[in-house]
Amino acid sequence: MDKSNHELLEIAKDIAVIVGKKLRQEGHLNKNFVFDQSNIKEIKADLDTIAEKIIIDKLKVSGLSILSEEAGFIGGDLRDSRRWIIDPIDGTFNYMKDLGPCAVSIGLWDKDSPVFGVIFALNTGDLYWGGKEFGAFCNLGAISVSNIADVAISSVCTGFPVRLDMESQETAENFWHSISKFSKVRMIGSASMSLVHVAKGSSDVYLEDEIMIWDVAAGLAIVEGAGGVISIDLGTVNNALRVSASNERLSHDAVWK
Ligand code: IPD
Ligand code: CA
Repeated sequence: MDKSNHELLEIAKDIAVIVGKKLRQEGHLNKNFVFDQSNIKEIKADLDTIAEKIIIDKLKVSGLSILSEEAGFIGGDLRDSRRWIIDPIDGTFNYMKDLGPCAVSIGLWDKDSPVFGVIFALNTGDLYWGGKEFGAFCNLGAISVSNIADVAISSVCTGFPVRLDMESQETAENFWHSISKFSKVRMIGSASMSLVHVAKGSSDVYLEDEIMIWDVAAGLAIVEGAGGVISIDLGTVNNALRVSASNERLSHDAVWK
């Protein structure tokens, strides 16, 4: 029998904690990574694939399809419109270099909409989870988005996705235009943890162009659970997306104008 979303959430939380604790304990022993020669802005780490295999093996019991950063699409029961979207380590460079936020990210989506997300923060060991029908939590405590309504006094978390054409003058101008309206700008190197900051109100907006779905799948669900709003449009390259998330008082137009 198909598992309910609540049952699947508990499975995802257990897996995120198991893999997250393993990465926290053993990570310092295996910091092997290489720069990807096909895109030198990207790195590939042994632990990305090791963690991914553990997550996928455990999620397979659900029978649902899985989309994962390293392994790609793994077909499960295609009659079920729900699918897992996972990033075994989001913020891999931060993780490898002890440079900042990084996380295990597991999302469940139904067609084009987030159902829930589970994010295990590797720096602190906190488990964030939530979705529209669940609310949003850090461990057992409820979290919610900020209530800032004026974009001029709001803060944004953003990033330079590895697929962005950094040589292009147009890209540079668009990027500058997109961030200059905010009071404070942060680039923390992890899309999932940026979304966690929006969900708990420590940042007001997350904005990123040409980002991949596995980087944001869980975080977008948690923002919705925390009372925020999200926007997802197609980007220009390789199935990338143009994504924003904020509290409900900051309008989509104000964020993107
Ligand atoms: C990266 C992070 C980063 C974003 C990059 C992603 P990864 O994820 O989420 O914040 O700007 O586009 O690739 O590669 O560390 O999983
Ligand atoms: Ca990753």
